[in-house]
Amino acid sequence: MKVLVIGGGGREHAIIQKLKENARITELFALPGNYGMADAAQCVNIAATDIEGITQWARQNNPDFAVVTPDDPLALGCVDALEAIGIPCFGPNKAAAQIEASKVFAKNLMKKYHIPTADYAVFEDVESAKEYIRANKRYPVVIKADGLALGKGVSIACDEAQAMDALHAAMEQKVFGESGARVVIEEYLEGPEVSVLAFTDSKTLVPMVSSMDHKRALDGDEGPNTGGMGTVAPNPYYTPQAAQRCMEEIFLPTMKAMNLEGCPFKGCLYFGLMLTKDGPKVIEYNCRFGDPETQVVLPLLESDLLDIFMAVRNETLREDMVRFSDKSACCVVKASAGYPKKYESGFPIHASRLPANCAVFYAGVKADESGAAVTAGGRVLGITAIGEDLKAAVQSAYQAAECIRFENEYMRTDIGKKALEVLK
Ligand code: AMP
Ligand code: GLY
Repeated sequence: MKVLVIGGGGREHAIIQKLKENARITELFALPGNYGMADAAQCVNIAATDIEGITQWARQNNPDFAVVTPDDPLALGCVDALEAIGIPCFGPNKAAAQIEASKVFAKNLMKKYHIPTADYAVFEDVESAKEYIRANKRYPVVIKADGLALGKGVSIACDEAQAMDALHAAMEQKVFGESGARVVIEEYLEGPEVSVLAFTDSKTLVPMVSSMDHKRALDGDEGPNTGGMGTVAPNPYYTPQAAQRCMEEIFLPTMKAMNLEGCPFKGCLYFGLMLTKDGPKVIEYNCRFGDPETQVVLPLLESDLLDIFMAVRNETLREDMVRFSDKSACCVVKASAGYPKKYESGFPIHASRLPANCAVFYAGVKADESGAAVTAGGRVLGITAIGEDLKAAVQSAYQAAECIRFENEYMRTDIGKKALEVLK
């Protein structure tokens, strides 16, 4: 089989590594992929958002199956376009991708179907939003741009001045472009955060092992929000009781709500959850695998990923198709110093052989003129280790991180620390 994976980050590298275990796959393409994964898949130099270019390539190369991973192509209707020319895909269509592409859509869905989430109000006009802020004197308050914003559209304002700044930036300065034309202002929730990815074919929903992201740039959860500096799985806060409540109160109701709205969701549905004292609540939905959650979740998957992808596409998913190891995993991200703000790139990456049970997933990597791997992005790579327990996984991931170096690198040194404290 010829399989195409659309996307080019660490998440896609993890998907490709897992797909490689399937002997039926004879050719794997990554579009655009990145140089770091070039020995695992053939990279196709087309942007993941170039839907026209992608369908043209697909017509010429006829892949048997496509996996569409990043939010932008999903929101642009990449799955609709490929299915229309007869290429079966894993991933939601454009209508279902709204669950991530519009926070207003997601919030209204949750309200209509009584799915627990933070209280909120929606504004299209900046004056009414400001008036609401002045009247509502509870802080912190959360302000979210409606549309996709590279994970940067959420502001947590601790006082009126910060709230006004966030509204001004989104709605008047338009720092997120049209994504900030509407905003959601919502209640601040407290509690541990859990990420749960789930496979669903719109009839059956099977959650994957839970995980914990580390979104802030610096140790101790300090510094600005990033795309994610590391992850561990499973997440120790996510007890079997919490899992059962999430399944009954959030996961299944969401799947059913999407069916009732006429936009059945097929693909990987990401639940960003907050375990509050009043029970689990949804912080956000994503219409795709999380990055770097995928880098700890898929290495623990024991079942065949292509079989699951095809079952989701064909609406034949069964719970027994998805089996996870009871081991633990830790992924440590190495980034360019300065990320998520300004950073330099172009530094050579020196890698030596990794210990057993470890893998490196490349993200911001390209070839220089001589063909050597150099840094080319904020998050450069992730190093994942699997261990018998979380402590062993964390230890191995940091040991393995010593095997790959580049100038100007930085990583958090406390990935998994909080999780280990819970387990004590
Ligand atoms: P997002 O970009 O939607 O993933 O949000 C980024 C982060 O903002 C989340 O991971 C949470 O830590 C935080 N956040 C978002 N919404 C809320 C909320 N209602 N209450 C507290 N924290 C929130
Ligand atoms: N790690 C969070 C995300 O993928 O959105």
